[in-house]
Amino acid sequence: MAELVVALDFPDAASALAMARALEGTAPWMKVGLELFTAEGPKVVTGLKELGFKVFLDLKFFDIPNTVQGAVRSAVRLGADMVNIHALGGERMARAAMAGCAEGTLPGQEPPLVLAVTMLTSMGAGDLPVENAPAPSDMALDLAVKAKQYGLNGVVCSGLEVERIKGACGDGFACLTPGIRPASAEAGDQRRVVTPEGAVRSGSDFLVVGRPITRAERPGEAAMAIIGEMRRAG
Ligand code: C5P
Repeated sequence: MAELVVALDFPDAASALAMARALEGTAPWMKVGLELFTAEGPKVVTGLKELGFKVFLDLKFFDIPNTVQGAVRSAVRLGADMVNIHALGGERMARAAMAGCAEGTLPGQEPPLVLAVTMLTSMGAGDLPVENAPAPSDMALDLAVKAKQYGLNGVVCSGLEVERIKGACGDGFACLTPGIRPASAEAGDQRRVVTPEGAVRSGSDFLVVGRPITRAERPGEAAMAIIGEMRRAG
């Protein structure tokens, strides 16, 4: 059964933790991204862990292998249950990330998942600033196959690509899909969007949803409606 991850894109810890409290008993995962982590740092991760949530630290590391290894090690020591890097960083960076994950994991502790971002779901055809760029979905598939070869646990991709990625990389290779929009919601800056039902039917393991929940009038109800749609589809 796919799991719901709520993107806490807030400017401060107080608003993020208030939203997390309002969502207790709904989604098992909270996602801390660049805006929140840059403003508040590690304390927001520990605060969410204390509330009993699993935390996806979405900082999309992309740097030289030594730096990424240290960053993943630190993220794992902080208590993140899932972290990510960019697939475009290549093999040495990916293997360094896995080494950092192993170094940060305590004996007996379940190692966190390390995922590779393939193509951002906000990028459509023509958005990649490269001449004769392949279609985003083809590029995502290619990067996913390579991420699997490099030993990563899965990828961040659009729901539009999950079936092909699972077909090429196997069911055990995790697919986490942002760009989820219930049929009635606005796409905003996202381009390659799918509904919660569509993402579950295509085999996605984790659905990341931000604004359709966090900007809803009643976030708890919005989250439960999405979980209901996910259950019916699964
Ligand atoms: O508000 P919305 O549902 O669009 O939020 C999606 C979240 O997923 C954002 O926090 C964004 O940073 C993140 N994300 C994404 N596409 C990726 C990776 C992460 O939208 N490829």
